[in-house]
Amino acid sequence: MRRYSRITGTGSHLPPRRVTNAELAAQLAARGLETTDDWIVERTGIRARHFAESDVTSSELALHACRNALEAAGRSASEIDLIIVATSTPDMVFPSTACILQHKLGAAGCPAFDVQAVCSGFVYALTVADAMIQSGSANRALVVGAEVFSRILDFNDRTTCVLFGDGAGAVVLEASDTPGILATDLHADGKHVGILCVPGNVSGGQVLGDPLLKMDGQAVFKLAVGVLEDAARATLAKAGKTDADIDWLIPHQANIRIMQSTARKLKLPLDKLVVTVDQHGNTSAASIPLALDASVRAGKVKPGDTLMLEGVGGGFTWGAVLLNF
Ligand code: UT7
Repeated sequence: MRRYSRITGTGSHLPPRRVTNAELAAQLAARGLETTDDWIVERTGIRARHFAESDVTSSELALHACRNALEAAGRSASEIDLIIVATSTPDMVFPSTACILQHKLGAAGCPAFDVQAVCSGFVYALTVADAMIQSGSANRALVVGAEVFSRILDFNDRTTCVLFGDGAGAVVLEASDTPGILATDLHADGKHVGILCVPGNVSGGQVLGDPLLKMDGQAVFKLAVGVLEDAARATLAKAGKTDADIDWLIPHQANIRIMQSTARKLKLPLDKLVVTVDQHGNTSAASIPLALDASVRAGKVKPGDTLMLEGVGGGFTWGAVLLNF
């Protein structure tokens, strides 16, 4: 009998400090930068984001999200035999945030590692976990996206600092006789490194280069719109499904205009598009599991629904996962 992987529980966590566009605009005005709620809403769909306190790390946000996911799955941390964390804002250069999370969860012994694919990180991590479960090297995984992007924002650059937020989302992914994950499709094209990056690194104990986020928003926008449709179509073809089989489109939450354009290209009515970018901003690798958990807990996504998850981001990376929930 074929072995599949299936999501058995979802969880998420947002740091309590919620910052509205108006509050952020006032803070930027004090630095001599002009922005408005109207501009941010019209260009991105974002109304608010959450920022973690300075001592709160990605592993801490991940811990809360994982506890919620484990509770939803009816599992304890000791039953987990694989932990994968997607993050671009790890607690340390090393060891991995996954190892730090594993210790906080009290799940010693199982393999734990990070995946670095920026905003595509969660679909990359889910694809790796699915492959490990299908091959028999894992039975019950925690797959997490966790970010404190507020740490790498340049609050003197109004073109980027209004876009991102902090948070974490997680799923428990278990071996199953029935699918589960139906198909996955991952890609990268490293020639676009420069359009979305944090170009600093550590050398000789010093930060070399600039440790803050840089983005050519228009270049990212144009690439994103094209590759998201391609990844969705490739994933549907692999699974022998069509646009009409998708119950919910849960794309990376970066910009409502990109998300709606993808939905239109897939001929999906906009009420099948899960939107949390308005309340969370762009939380990079955390955005898809945050949106998934929010829609499950709101009673929108139900067992048996077919979900298209799609990520796109720095690298340039992109990909999609089609699954039966
Ligand atoms: O997570 C990975 C994926 N990331 C993304 O998908 C992000 C993709 N890119 C985007 O979402 C959009 O390109 C942005 C939201 C970043 C920018 O939207 P845009 O419609 O491409 O705006 P723009 O860059 O063309 O800027 C339009 C104007 C410019 O002024 P001028 O040159 O027309 O006078 C900007 O200087 O808006 C100005 N502007 C702002 N104005 C007020 C840029 N940022 C701001 C701001 N407030 N915060």
